[in-house]
Amino acid sequence: MPHETRGVIAGGKGEPVRLETIIVPDPGPGEVLVRVQASGVCHTDLHYREGAINDDFPFLLGHEAAGTIEGVGEGVDDVAPGDFVVLAWRAPCGACRSCLRGRPWYCFDSRNARQPMTLADGTPLSPALGIGAFSDLTVVDAGQAVKVNPAARPEAAGLIGCGIMAGLGAALNTGNVCRGDSVAVIGCGGVGDAAIAGSKLGGAHTIIAVDLDDRKLEWAREFGATHTINALNTDPVEAIRELTGGNGVDVAIDAVGTPETYKQAFYARDLAGTVVLVGVPNPDMRIDLPLLDLFGRGGALKSSWYGDCLPKRDFPMFIDLYLQGRLDLDRFVSETIAIDEVEEAFHKMERGEVLRSVVVF
Ligand SMILES: NC(=O)c1ccc[n+]([C@@H]2O[C@H](COP(=O)([O-])OP(=O)(O)OC[C@H]3O[C@@H](n4cnc5c(N)ncnc54)[C@H](O)[C@@H]3O)[C@@H](O)[C@H]2O)c1
Ligand SMILES: [Zn+2]
Ligand SMILES: [Zn+2]
Repeated sequence: MPHETRGVIAGGKGEPVRLETIIVPDPGPGEVLVRVQASGVCHTDLHYREGAINDDFPFLLGHEAAGTIEGVGEGVDDVAPGDFVVLAWRAPCGACRSCLRGRPWYCFDSRNARQPMTLADGTPLSPALGIGAFSDLTVVDAGQAVKVNPAARPEAAGLIGCGIMAGLGAALNTGNVCRGDSVAVIGCGGVGDAAIAGSKLGGAHTIIAVDLDDRKLEWAREFGATHTINALNTDPVEAIRELTGGNGVDVAIDAVGTPETYKQAFYARDLAGTVVLVGVPNPDMRIDLPLLDLFGRGGALKSSWYGDCLPKRDFPMFIDLYLQGRLDLDRFVSETIAIDEVEEAFHKMERGEVLRSVVVF
């Protein structure tokens, strides 16, 4: 029987989000129904409501979530009702050309629930990143529900489902940050701070944080930044070179995603170093770089999709590190809010007041 519940809907480009009645179906074959316990507000939700991802309005927002399995569809045997799960927006299909080449972390045909969730009048909803977790209940593909240690607080655990994983993975998976590396992270929101935490876990000896906001830079130090630069009053490229003997860093991570920050990452990196783009640019952004510099500086220019993570491998591991006190997920939770406070949380994010507001149910 379909379930009537509440969901946070982005109805049109730039319009404030609203709480509406939605209909969530029972899980079909290969699907699970999840009772959401906590769901973080990510910049990507704001990108959706601004129409910067696509025009498939109305969106059911929310995608950084933890909860419990409420019901499973036919053929689901790896999770069962009551299991504590973190939701993932990557569920490798096992059959696309990337999965077949042994690279499931790029899966080009990631699985989602096939049945739509709808508004009360039957209008189908586009769930953000195939999840839609600003809702008491959501239906996802069973592969998207990743079992983790239930000792973790849902508010903290859910964050591993998107931005924090993206940042950790940008450093550890895409950038391959290792012992002895120097790293710069441009943009110290949730994603950038997670890249800093990941660089520390990986063993980087120098971790330079760049932001425009001194508060953010203070927080970045708590996650492991060894140096901070406010790019409002200092040229970050020169400052990063100065801090690295004139050479630049081994790995430069752009966690903002603008032409300006990308160029800073490009030129702040040492010869043959790696640039990682994890911030998501808007569709109208362009970049102009001398082709000779692309050649002459060598190395690797990489994009990090979801931190190149494999959720079933990486989520339980990071939750274990959290429970061992080696990864401070609690520090990312700036506040907990109610489901009708998401629009206000977007404004707090824009004003730079929070790393993550987390909706608790
Ligand atoms: N690649 C992925 O898979 C993935 C996953 C999740 C989020 N993201 C993206 O990562 C980006 C960051 O997300 P977030 O949640 O941390 O956002 P956020 O808004 O919390 O943080 C952005 C930070 O960048 C800083 N900033 C803005 N302009 C800057 C500049 N010119 N120089 C230096 N710092 C600057 C801001 O002060 C802020 O601290 C977003 O674009 C988001 O969509 C990507
Ligand atoms: Zn695949
Ligand atoms: Zn996100």
